[in-house]
Amino acid sequence: MRQLIRGRTLSFHADPVEVENAFTYHEDGAVLVEDGKIVATGDYATLRADGLPEIDHRPNLILPGFIDTHIHFPQVQVVASWGAQLLDWLNTYTFPEEARFSQQGHAPAMAEKFLDLLVHHGTTTAVAFCSVHPQSAEALFSAAEARNMAMIAGKVMMDRNAPEAVLDTPQQGYDDSKALIEKWHGRGRQRYAITPRFAITSTPQQMEMAGQLAREHPDCHIQTHLSENLDEIAFTLSLYPKARDYLDIYETYGLLGDKILLGHSIHLEEREIARMAETGSHPVFCPTSNLFLGSGLFDEGGLRARGIRAGIATDIGGGTSYSMLQTMNEGYKILQLRGQKLHPFAAFHWATRGNALVLGMEDRIGTLAAGTDADLVVLNSRATPAMTLRMERATTLAEELFILQIMGDDRAIAQTYVAGKPML
Ligand code: GUN
Ligand code: ZN
Repeated sequence: MRQLIRGRTLSFHADPVEVENAFTYHEDGAVLVEDGKIVATGDYATLRADGLPEIDHRPNLILPGFIDTHIHFPQVQVVASWGAQLLDWLNTYTFPEEARFSQQGHAPAMAEKFLDLLVHHGTTTAVAFCSVHPQSAEALFSAAEARNMAMIAGKVMMDRNAPEAVLDTPQQGYDDSKALIEKWHGRGRQRYAITPRFAITSTPQQMEMAGQLAREHPDCHIQTHLSENLDEIAFTLSLYPKARDYLDIYETYGLLGDKILLGHSIHLEEREIARMAETGSHPVFCPTSNLFLGSGLFDEGGLRARGIRAGIATDIGGGTSYSMLQTMNEGYKILQLRGQKLHPFAAFHWATRGNALVLGMEDRIGTLAAGTDADLVVLNSRATPAMTLRMERATTLAEELFILQIMGDDRAIAQTYVAGKPML
């Protein structure tokens, strides 16, 4: 069935940091949707037709749904855990919580809550770490498939430096990941990410198995963590004494390339930056998490200047908000501390097409281009009294977007469409 979704449409076709006219905006626009796909985006007057069903979201904005490139599904009940930096936070709060995902029924229940939270915050695709238990990934994929929501996910591989209840073995980690890939990768909108949690929790034998999976499944994504925290880096290098630096560990096992997403990537050596650029590997900026865990200030401008394309993400539950708007708000502040600027056009590009580019999926998601999947977010710039008051003085689209970026959260999400279906 064809349907016209009317509103002020905004979609990026280039990176506003790189080119002048990077987006298309229709003041009275519409997205024509059929069978979960965008047929056309343009002026309402051009797209309207007699008998064509319409939903009118005016004066709200319609953008491509947000993409979150780093989030931990089993940490929905870890968010806001007090007083620790990374390694203590993992040991005190996170590993015990993830252990609960072995319990019958827990992962399926949490998967529904997790996806509800994503769509309530306008996020239509996420790249998610599951727990070590294969049933956590199974639950997330099943729930995402039922909503026809594009998920990229993987069970974490971890075989040391954590409680027994969240450990696998090199062989079990390989076998479980392999079975999940065979069942889920490329099924509908689901995709698998090979997920060695980070070098601290994987033995060299397990890293070797992760590399083998990556060789056997070159079209799977790979996700892990890199150089988030100084104590983490020191511990990591003590576990891999032959490594030239942290990134070298992942390189040794054949994991670098444009499929890998390296969460955090804050405290990098010059050699690591050069290798990231040469291999096309992607760092992922997690602003609310980096502030909450006191991890450090991501160098967006420095990495961009080297030709590296970074993702931006919430990193729930080290992160403190599911909202990509709040993520861009805290991202703006981190870049301020770095003497860099995150313009609202750059921010909204990043959370949509930019993250899609990082995933190599811009032909499917992240824009309002014809032929792509109809994942949309509808944004209300007057969602709160404070926003309404501030909006009285906004005269440009950039100002309005910046108000959304700084003041917006789930209250600003008027609707989220996943494959053409309203989710709220
Ligand atoms: N490094 C390894 N595991 C994690 C995690 O769950 N969260 C964060 N923020 N960093 C990690
Ligand atoms: Zn993480």
